[in-house]
Amino acid sequence: MEIKRTRIVELLNKTEFGETVCVKGWVRTRRGNKQVAFIALNDGSTIHSIQIVIDLVRFDEELLKGITTGACIAVNGLLVESQGQGQTAEIQAQDIEIYGKADPATYPLQKKGHSLEFLREIAYLRPRTNTFGAIFRIRHHLAFAIHDYFNKQGFYYFHTPIITASDAEGAGSMFQVTMLDMNKAPLTEDQKIDYSQDFFGRHTNLTVSGQLEGELGAMALGGIYTFGPTFRAENSNTPRHLAEFWMIEPEVAFNDINDNMNLAEDFLKYVISYAMEHCKDDIEFLNKMYDNELLDRLNFVLDNRFVRLTYTEGVEILEKSGKKFDFPVYWGADLQSEHERYLVEEHFKCPVILTDYPKEIKSFYMKQNDDGKTVRGMDVLFPKIGEIIGGSEREADYEKLLNRIKELNMSMDSLWWYIDTRKFGTAPHAGFGLGFERLVLFITGMGNIRDVIPFPRTPKNAEF
Ligand code: 4AD
Ligand code: MG
Repeated sequence: MEIKRTRIVELLNKTEFGETVCVKGWVRTRRGNKQVAFIALNDGSTIHSIQIVIDLVRFDEELLKGITTGACIAVNGLLVESQGQGQTAEIQAQDIEIYGKADPATYPLQKKGHSLEFLREIAYLRPRTNTFGAIFRIRHHLAFAIHDYFNKQGFYYFHTPIITASDAEGAGSMFQVTMLDMNKAPLTEDQKIDYSQDFFGRHTNLTVSGQLEGELGAMALGGIYTFGPTFRAENSNTPRHLAEFWMIEPEVAFNDINDNMNLAEDFLKYVISYAMEHCKDDIEFLNKMYDNELLDRLNFVLDNRFVRLTYTEGVEILEKSGKKFDFPVYWGADLQSEHERYLVEEHFKCPVILTDYPKEIKSFYMKQNDDGKTVRGMDVLFPKIGEIIGGSEREADYEKLLNRIKELNMSMDSLWWYIDTRKFGTAPHAGFGLGFERLVLFITGMGNIRDVIPFPRTPKNAEF
């Protein structure tokens, strides 16, 4: 008789026993004696494995030999109440099929407790571990919570292009997209590569942000958000930077910077509490195994109002702190994560939103303040992470925006359409970008951003 497969998470929640069930999954461990084997089987539906009890005399010896750590098996058996501690249900095997063996001599995940560094080297297998199962389930639920939040708030999911001709952040650290053969690229009269002969007829790159196109959406649909991959070719080998990361960028017509801060705070609190409700077992596992302060930190962020102050006030606090920083602090300096974390973890002991940054260290599109020196940008700073969100009210005035673009010598050729929005029905508006992996870092308590995305892209690393 064919029995439909049940996911292990459902079986472990059962309170009635005695039915014959079918489970399929990967063997985590095998122990036992001459009469009986106990298999911990995991199918990814929960951090918890289900115990399969195998009465050895009832099965063929060859088959039993293949049931080793890492093998994939299907089991039909009787669901019974477990006698062992810590589990509710177990399965007495009646019928076992091996889908795929995993040779103990070569399967890399033999023991528990491999280091995160080692697991990074076998990123193609690490989803099979408890730790990465937990992280990737949390990642899924967070993505879902983000869509849920914006949908409930009346925002539209707006898809912005991945291949673009513009540089949204004006930072210039972009990956080029080309079909030209670089060994014999066509040249212009002044000996530059002639991109007019390239696939798109112009120079293109992978996007660093969906914001500029997102603003076009907001100027029509009112409130939009993007949620897509973004790419930065900066050569920063830190535990908080990826070359390919996912970003969520809401953009809202008629919002000012205060609305923007309120939205950021409400949004972060919603997704954090969603994860705490829907990923309880996984977060508790990570709290126990990696970061004993994780649950406290998450609750702390939910329970406290984020402190809001200007960059200028923040720099004063840092200057007066008497603390030795690796990077000097002075008005005009771009704050480093050590400065951000000092404000959050030591001074305020609370998430912080800094606003009104010097215009020189922020992007061209931020609304200019009347002082001529600062712009209406905002960064949300979190414990352990530093900057988790960057955003601003946008410059809605045509002349001011144009002047800033000229001041910075940016190319009008790839931005004219963006500036046009300020000519045709411009409006005050604001938005921000949340780095998805920084959020997952915060909620899992992991220390390295490479461990919260299935296949991290960092300098010199794109094998799998
Ligand atoms: O502060 P950023 O550069 O802002 C923007 O891109 C704006 N266009 C956002 C907007 O206003 N719509 O990036 C936003 C966030 C950062 O706060 C950080 O969380 C994350 O994206 N981020 C990165 N995450 C991982 N790796 C990197 N290299 C990142 N660079 C930025
Ligand atoms: Mg930023």
